[in-house]
Amino acid sequence: MPIPTYPPGQRIGYLETMRLILFGGKFDQLTYAQQVNREFGGFTYTAFGPITFYTVTDPELMHDILVRQVDKFAKSSVVKDAFGAFLGNGLLTSDGDFWKRQRKLAQPAFHARRIEGYGDVMVDYTRQMLDSWTSGETLYLDREMMKLTLAIVAKTLFDADVSGEAEHVGVLMNDLLDATNERIIAALRLPDWVPTPHRARVQKSVAELDAILERIIRERRAANHDRGDLLSMLLLAQDDEGKGMSDRQLRDEMMTIFLAGHETTAMALSWTWYLLSQNLDVLVKLQDEIDTVLAGRAPTVADLAHLPYTEMVVKESMRLYPPAPGISRSPVEDVQLGGYTVPKGALFLMSIWAMQRDERLFPQPEAFQPERFAPEREKTIPRYAYMPFGGGPRICIGNSFALMEARLILATMTQRFDFRLKPDQQVEPEMLVTVRPKHGLQMQVMSRQAQPVSQDAEPALV
Ligand code: HEM
Repeated sequence: MPIPTYPPGQRIGYLETMRLILFGGKFDQLTYAQQVNREFGGFTYTAFGPITFYTVTDPELMHDILVRQVDKFAKSSVVKDAFGAFLGNGLLTSDGDFWKRQRKLAQPAFHARRIEGYGDVMVDYTRQMLDSWTSGETLYLDREMMKLTLAIVAKTLFDADVSGEAEHVGVLMNDLLDATNERIIAALRLPDWVPTPHRARVQKSVAELDAILERIIRERRAANHDRGDLLSMLLLAQDDEGKGMSDRQLRDEMMTIFLAGHETTAMALSWTWYLLSQNLDVLVKLQDEIDTVLAGRAPTVADLAHLPYTEMVVKESMRLYPPAPGISRSPVEDVQLGGYTVPKGALFLMSIWAMQRDERLFPQPEAFQPERFAPEREKTIPRYAYMPFGGGPRICIGNSFALMEARLILATMTQRFDFRLKPDQQVEPEMLVTVRPKHGLQMQVMSRQAQPVSQDAEPALV
């Protein structure tokens, strides 16, 4: 067996680790990945008390792990432990031939032709949300975005109307995300059989969500009708022996799509509005494009090709605030990577966040500059240096769905309202499963007719 060789790195002593764990200090993955990237470069080894891991922030190594040597890597135990408890063996957490088969079954629901048909729902639901707002009121934009994207995923992919219960489903999902996050960061974790009040609440949330999903599955089975959406595809899918998917597997896939398919897009939109509120020059250009191209009518999928700046804004926002800030893998055999020998089972934390904020890859990395994604300039970005959706065969299945959704929602919102950050609102990114604004994002909504944006406002940095 080859002997492991280690890239540069550091050891955080047991005492320091215990202090962090016991006295509430939290290990901040976002800052840590940026710090080691600056100090040691794109490949670092860390011993954090009993846990050892490799941090990857180098585009070439990302390419290696996700594409060139993809068969030697699987989802890490961190992902499986953290998500597996709620998502079971769905697309996000499964591996190997089983994953391949499930991905093939779900893929047609995400083909370009198919997702174009989802555009109207995305715009209609956004307009309904905007109709319920009053100019001048202050609301938590991040929560509003979560409710909206959750209702859109349920309607487009499962043809289920959860808009009435979106708030409640959102609370349940939140419980699961909190618990998932706890599992990811808790180095010392109580065994699952130790009952804690939090755990009891999470179990109740899982049970309630399961009941909602079961209802959707039962209604669809009873209707016995192919609606052509993701749920129909999964229900009709059969293996070589003509056997369909079990109810358990259906539930796992639906829970996965529910979870993976709404919070990410909601965070992309929330951060975009935060960045726009701090960079009025960009907002004015965005409004200009949308007002000129749409002339007041609701956007359609066909309009998106004529809204290049809108796309640039979304892409640049996901560079600074990638909703999924990192991904994680483990080699299933010893691997050679970046000139080092890494043993089977090692833990890789691949930081999209730190890579996309590396000044060697993105000059003036802290500045919000959509022009980076102007078609000619975008080509000069090194491959795998920008990857909010991951890469290789396990690239986000909802990639085009999300980009279309984010642009349609952004355009529809821009037509109607301006958003101003509440003056005393602290904004601090926090890494949960996604990057969220830690203290929420309270914004005042102002009807565009009532309050046009000042053309000569000072541009500000992030
Ligand atoms: C801005 C929005 C989104 C972002 C930034 C995002 C990001 C990601 C990333 C980085 C991965 C790769 C994880 C890895 O390699 O370990 C992923 C996987 C996945 N995403 Fe997304 N996602 C978004 C929206 C969506 C939507 C809308 C859906 C579904 C409707 C979705 C469903 C999934 C699924 C099922 C996987 C697992 C795919 C597989 O392994 O085969 N995502 N996403």
